[in-house]
Amino acid sequence: MSTAGLGPMDRRDFLETLGRLSLGATAAASLSTGAARGSQRSTEKVWQPVSERKVRVGIVGYGVCQFGAAFGFQDHPNVEIVAVSDLIAERRAGLMQACRCEKSYESLEVLVKDPKIEAVFVATDAPNHAKHCMEVLNHGKHVMTAVPAVWGSIEQAEHLVETVRKTGLKYMMAETSYYRADCCAMRQIYRAGGFGKLVYSEGEYFHFCPTPIPSFNGWRIGSPPLWYPTHSTAYYVGVSGGRFTSVSCIGFDAGLPSNKPGANKYENPYSDEIALFQTSEGGASRMLMCMGVQDVVVETGRVYGQRGWMQDTEYHGLLKDLPDITVPALPPGMPAGGHGGSHGPLANEFITAILEDREPLVNVYEALAMTVPGVVAHQSALKDGETLPIPQFTRT
Ligand SMILES: NC(=O)c1ccc[n+]([C@@H]2O[C@H](COP(=O)([O-])OP(=O)(O)OC[C@H]3O[C@@H](n4cnc5c(N)ncnc54)[C@H](O)[C@@H]3O)[C@@H](O)[C@H]2O)c1
Repeated sequence: MSTAGLGPMDRRDFLETLGRLSLGATAAASLSTGAARGSQRSTEKVWQPVSERKVRVGIVGYGVCQFGAAFGFQDHPNVEIVAVSDLIAERRAGLMQACRCEKSYESLEVLVKDPKIEAVFVATDAPNHAKHCMEVLNHGKHVMTAVPAVWGSIEQAEHLVETVRKTGLKYMMAETSYYRADCCAMRQIYRAGGFGKLVYSEGEYFHFCPTPIPSFNGWRIGSPPLWYPTHSTAYYVGVSGGRFTSVSCIGFDAGLPSNKPGANKYENPYSDEIALFQTSEGGASRMLMCMGVQDVVVETGRVYGQRGWMQDTEYHGLLKDLPDITVPALPPGMPAGGHGGSHGPLANEFITAILEDREPLVNVYEALAMTVPGVVAHQSALKDGETLPIPQFTRT
């Protein structure tokens, strides 16, 4: 959620920029020793088109974060932006301009009726993501959504997964941590066997918010911290493909005005939530979302396995020949974008999955495996940390 002008600068993005400068284009694979450091982004990799076809895309939502235009769909050579939408006329006009698109609709509900559009990016308010994605899918269109997949509701998750199964269309959640350089590198090393099973992992999203960031209908005011878990949980699910099976969570009230009794519609007393999950590998994972810790804004994580461990882009372990751990190349002229350069790779992955007719990396099962555990974690916090089981959404 670190967007310029909205709050303190994302310290991590700043550090990543410094890291890029100091590391240059060092190819990680050439440092094949017990301790290896990956470059942020390979300058040697060249994007390979998989098709000349243009996917006909609609984009919805140009709110406080102006997310509709932030992923670079308008700069992808395999995309034609057919139309855009936001309920607020001024924002709609801004999105048209930012996407260089001449057509707009007054709402998502009208846009999805355009037969020319085959895929939609939903960048609307979090409480409506599941409903909006189902509306898109039920109109026969693929969908990519901003995080989280559902908003505090297991029932929404059940309906969403049913709709994806029933329609057979592509669903992807744009979790930005997935293509941060460290998380992406950890995933490649995990797949290459460099960690073995993960004994322990940690993910954290600290975003000091003494006053809430503005939001459509005030959805951010006093919201339960771990209803927004995916920047953290990606550091287990997005590395190993594993699942969280149970959780015990501690909530903390740092005294922010929006968590006072009666100050929010969620009856949520907590500004900070810290959860300990059991994992499907038999390990443990500590995931947190904190808004009450003074002056810290960061999204990051670490993994510790039987055969190695990793933080930032530095691997320590038994794997001698590292795989290519760099983030996928982008089409010429397409910006990597914000949140650690993750926006462009996410949009490119969604479009490429459509062109190749395959599942996107962050499909509905991965999306729910990152989102639903946070919903249960909040329930646990409200019960003084009682250990609760986590419902699983498995492919049928
Ligand atoms: N790192 C990240 O992944 C990251 C960072 C920032 C924001 N986000 C997510 O991006 C989303 C957008 O964030 P924001 O701060 O801009 O949200 P916001 O609440 O400020 O704006 C939401 C926008 O959606 C529009 N909208 C709602 N319903 C609509 C409909 N039916 N048709 C057309 N437009 C509709 C509203 O008019 C509003 O402009 C949020 O869900 C947030 O969680 C993710």
